[in-house]
Amino acid sequence: TTALRVALAGLGTVGGGVIRVLETNRELIARRAGRPIEIVAVSARDRTKDRGVDVSGYEWLDDTTALARCDADVVVELVGGADGPALALARATLGAGKGFVTANKAMLAHHGAELAEMAEAARVPLKFEAAVAGGIPVIKGLREGMAANAVSRVYGILNGTCNFILSKMESEGRDFGDVLAEAQALGFAESDPSFDIDGVDAAHKLSILSTIAFGTRPAFADVAIGGIRNVTAADVAEAEALGYRVRLVGMAQADASGVFQRVHAHLVPHAHPLAHVTGSTNAVVAEGNFVGRLLFQGAGAGDGPTASAVVADLIDIARGEAGPPYAMPVAALAEVAPAAAGAQ
Ligand code: NDP
Ligand code: HSE
Repeated sequence: TTALRVALAGLGTVGGGVIRVLETNRELIARRAGRPIEIVAVSARDRTKDRGVDVSGYEWLDDTTALARCDADVVVELVGGADGPALALARATLGAGKGFVTANKAMLAHHGAELAEMAEAARVPLKFEAAVAGGIPVIKGLREGMAANAVSRVYGILNGTCNFILSKMESEGRDFGDVLAEAQALGFAESDPSFDIDGVDAAHKLSILSTIAFGTRPAFADVAIGGIRNVTAADVAEAEALGYRVRLVGMAQADASGVFQRVHAHLVPHAHPLAHVTGSTNAVVAEGNFVGRLLFQGAGAGDGPTASAVVADLIDIARGEAGPPYAMPVAALAEVAPAAAGAQ
C-alpha cells in the first residue's frame, strides 16, 4: 500500500505533538487509515532548535511555502497567524491541488471561505478539526454527526487559556497575570495572548462553528467580542459567593432575523454544566431540531489533544473521506445579516 505523504509546517507545541502521535501510534494509525502516514518534509523558523522530537530524518525546507511544491500528498500547517506564511502556504497548497490540514482558526475566520472554495474547485480536502476546541471532535460532530438537523444554537467555552485562568483564580485565588504565565508555559496560549484574553480567539472559533452549524457564510466581523482582561480574583470570589462562576462563553444563534454571535464573560449559575468546566477544558453545546441538545466536552488546548485532532484529519484523508469543508459547498452558504443584539 502507498503511504500518505505529509509535509509539516510548524514544529512548536502542536507540530511537535503531531510527530509524537504519529510515532507513538504508528501501527494503530496505519491499520485505521488503511495505509501508513509518513512525514516527508518539515519547516519552521529555526533549524537548530532542540524540539524534544527527532526531525533529522525529514527533509528540511527553510522556505515554508516550498512545502506546497514538495513530494507530499497533504500539507499540515501549524505555524499560526491569519495571514503571512500560513496563508501563503494554504493558497499554494490548495492551488497545487493538494490536501491541507490546519489548526489555524485565525486564518479560517478571515480567509476560510476563499480557502474552502479553492479546495472545492481542486476537489481536495481542507480539514481543520483542531482549529476549534482542541481535541474535541466538535467539527466532526456538527458537520457529520448533526448533518441531518437544522441547528438553532451553538454555544460554549471555546478558549482553554481563559478557562484555565478563571478556574485557577477561582480555586487558588491567584492573580490573573501569574496564571496567564502558567498557561503560556503549558503551551495553551496563542503567541500573542491578547487574542486569548480579549476574546478574539474564541470569536474566531465561534465564526467557524456558526458557518458549519447554520450553513451561513463566515462572518467573523459580525461577532460582538469581549474578554476577561479586567476580571479580578475578587470578582471571581464574589461571583462564587453568590452562586455563580465567571466563564468566557461564545454563543451563536440563528433565527428568521439573522445570526447573532457574541463572546463575553458570563456569570454562569452553579447548576449549569458550563460552571463545572475547569482548567483548559472546553465544552460546546449544540441544539439540533431532531437530535436535541448535544454536549461536547474535553481538552481544548495543549500538544497531545490538539495533535490528536490534526492526526484524525490525516486519517480521514488517508481513507479517502471527503466532502465540502463546511458541510455544504461555499456557493450554497446563505448570506445572512447579523441579528440585532436585542434579538437573542
Ligand atoms: P508554536 O508557537 O508553539 O509553534 C509555531 C511553529 O511555527 C514553530 O515551530 C515556529 O518555528 C513556526 N513558525 C513561526 N513563525 C514562522 C514563520 N514565519 N515561518 C516558518 N515557521 C514559523 O504554536 P502552536 O503549536 O501552539 O500553534 C500552532 C497553531 O495551532 C496556531 O495556529 C494555533 O492557533 C493553533 N492551535 C494551538 C493550540 C495549542 O494548544 N497550542 C490548540 C489549537 C490550535 P520555530 O519553532 O523555529 O520558532
Ligand atoms: N490558545 C487557544 C486556547 C489554543 O487557549 O484555547 C486552542 O485553540
